[in-house]
Amino acid sequence: MIETDPQQKKARIMVVDDDPATHALLTEMLVLHGSEMLFYPSGAIALMAAENHTPDLVLLAVKIPDMDGFEVCKRIKQNPGLKDVPVIFLSDTNDTESKVRAFEMGGVDYITKPIHFAELRARVAVHLSRCTLESKLEFQKRMEEKIRELSEAQQATIFAIAKLAEQRDEDTGAHLERVREYCRLLAERLGEDSPYAAYITAEFVECIQHASPLHDIGKVAIPDSILLKPHKLTSPEFEVMKTHAVIGAENMQLVYNHYSGNVFIGMGIEIALYHHERWDGSGYPDGLTGRNIPLPARIMALADCYDALRSDRCYRRGLDHERVKAMILEGSGTHFDPEIVKAFLSLEEEFSRIQDTFC
Ligand SMILES: [Fe+2]
Repeated sequence: MIETDPQQKKARIMVVDDDPATHALLTEMLVLHGSEMLFYPSGAIALMAAENHTPDLVLLAVKIPDMDGFEVCKRIKQNPGLKDVPVIFLSDTNDTESKVRAFEMGGVDYITKPIHFAELRARVAVHLSRCTLESKLEFQKRMEEKIRELSEAQQATIFAIAKLAEQRDEDTGAHLERVREYCRLLAERLGEDSPYAAYITAEFVECIQHASPLHDIGKVAIPDSILLKPHKLTSPEFEVMKTHAVIGAENMQLVYNHYSGNVFIGMGIEIALYHHERWDGSGYPDGLTGRNIPLPARIMALADCYDALRSDRCYRRGLDHERVKAMILEGSGTHFDPEIVKAFLSLEEEFSRIQDTFC
């Protein structure tokens, strides 16, 4: 169902009073003010009508034929669908006891007849504007909640697609879950203490977490004979394997063309295209060097390698943490960004724990 902004509708004011003179007076005052007026001579009819069409405000006489205004107000406040509707009492008497009772029953205001135009208009305007503000805040809250739900569903769908693509490679297990965690941890740590801290926002961390599972999406285009080969690839086979980076990025680029400026897809492209680049320029596809390699891809490179080396393959057992740590240290400044290696060292226990948790 499409919701409408509460600020855009005309105020519906219900008047519960059996006095024709009051009807005439209120009509003149409030219709001119742009409100829709609904008149009811008895409490029972008014309550029934309010159930069907919720008013924005009720002007309620204390004395009406079938039940008094206090009782009508009490029933309005007991009704979950009506409890937030402001009720202003209209009374012939100015005694304190009635005023106190009116507020006790949930009334927001109390006006003594004869009614003065300016005073009523001002009081109605105050209560309507407060209600509009509350409704608007409530509306915004609901919209934000819907956007959040939609975004979560979208991320879950993207992850499911990445997972589906990954299932062709039987060795990887929970690789995507682990690299997602490694990337998040590294980005958070680099955001706390590194030369990249100013660049790493909460949005960056969230994006890399959700975009990282897409790094090898291009492998869907790699033939089984190469992707699933249990032995070392030949040079021509490796050239085919290398194309997964460009293929993944090109496909995401098609999506990006429709949503240009989308930070998440933009980062997904950088990660897919450059996660096999190396700090010293010996990587692929473009042989980029150092900080020319986009930061998300440099983070992904370390996360991907750590996981690949720790995991079992059909042709070898996974290496232990200390061995992989030594290899990563060795690759600092050649394969990996030294700053990211530094962040990894400060997180090594978490890396090891994640490896054991997501098997
Ligand atoms: Fe890859």
